[in-house]
Amino acid sequence: MKDQIEKLHQKALASLAEAGSLKELEELRVRFLGKKGELTAILRGLSQLPAEERPKIGELANQVRDSISKTISEKSEELKEEILARELEKEKVDITLPGRPFPVGSRHPLNQVLDRIKEIFIGMGYAVAEGPEIETDYYNFEALNVPADHPARDMQDTFYLPGGYLLRTQTSPVQVRTMEKQEPPVRIIAPGAVYRCDADITHSPMFHQVEGLYVDENVTFADLKGTLEHFLHQLFGKNRQVRFRPSFFPFTEPSAEVDIACLMCGGSGCRVCKNTGWLEILGSGMVHPKVLEKVNYDPQKVGGFAFGMGVERIAMLLYGIDDIRLFFENDLRFLRQF
Ligand code: DAH
Repeated sequence: MKDQIEKLHQKALASLAEAGSLKELEELRVRFLGKKGELTAILRGLSQLPAEERPKIGELANQVRDSISKTISEKSEELKEEILARELEKEKVDITLPGRPFPVGSRHPLNQVLDRIKEIFIGMGYAVAEGPEIETDYYNFEALNVPADHPARDMQDTFYLPGGYLLRTQTSPVQVRTMEKQEPPVRIIAPGAVYRCDADITHSPMFHQVEGLYVDENVTFADLKGTLEHFLHQLFGKNRQVRFRPSFFPFTEPSAEVDIACLMCGGSGCRVCKNTGWLEILGSGMVHPKVLEKVNYDPQKVGGFAFGMGVERIAMLLYGIDDIRLFFENDLRFLRQF
């Protein structure tokens, strides 16, 4: 029996030495040491041995069991380390690989122009105000001195909505809303979307305006001129010629349109300025007393000026864009150029 056990020992050690996986190792453990394993099978004959031999054989069997167990756990550690090393090798990150490209967007050209306009007026102490795009007839027309039968309503192709509402055709209603909420001095610009039923290469049914309003005591036409001239020189360059031309708006009196020397030809005349040498940039004027009365300001005590401009038009002139629809198509080939 001693022989049998020793042979089993050698056989087990040899098999374990060759085991290549944890699964194989477990199979060997069951085969040699399990309840129905080979060692147990040999020891079944123990009862047939003379009593004095039994302890010796028992001791030997225990030593062999310990030896095989120890070898199994050593081998198991070895295999686990090998597996870990293999996995680490597989998961190794190659830090020399170039990263995935992460394209950076840019601000929309209209927002770039709008930011610049805001920056210039904020620099002159103006605050930024906002108003709703869905307006009432009162704020869009009536309070701006355009009564129901006034021919000036035909100047603007209004989108009317049910329930007496409309899409604002201009940012001028923000003038009224601001003055209703606030006592003079008022010094605001109001950027925002406006809507008119009109579409071709220079007109979009939705476009953007920036409104301006300054009301205080002793505000004169000279303030209007100085402010707008400063603004246009900041935006288009110090050497750009600016001119004021008499005009008409229902909510200002007197009114003026402001032109700059054509950006394309410099004033000599071209297709863009229709051979006049001038580009119209904004509308302006001294706030009409009737508008001030509507918001309970006293025209005897306070007065001011207002102005309004189209953001798309300015962006088109600044960047030399000849089709307004490019701003709204979101074609990356166009947007990436800014
Ligand atoms: N609201 C005018 C328009 O859409 C632009 C304008 C002209 C605004 C003169 C003003 C202004 O505040 O004083 O055509």
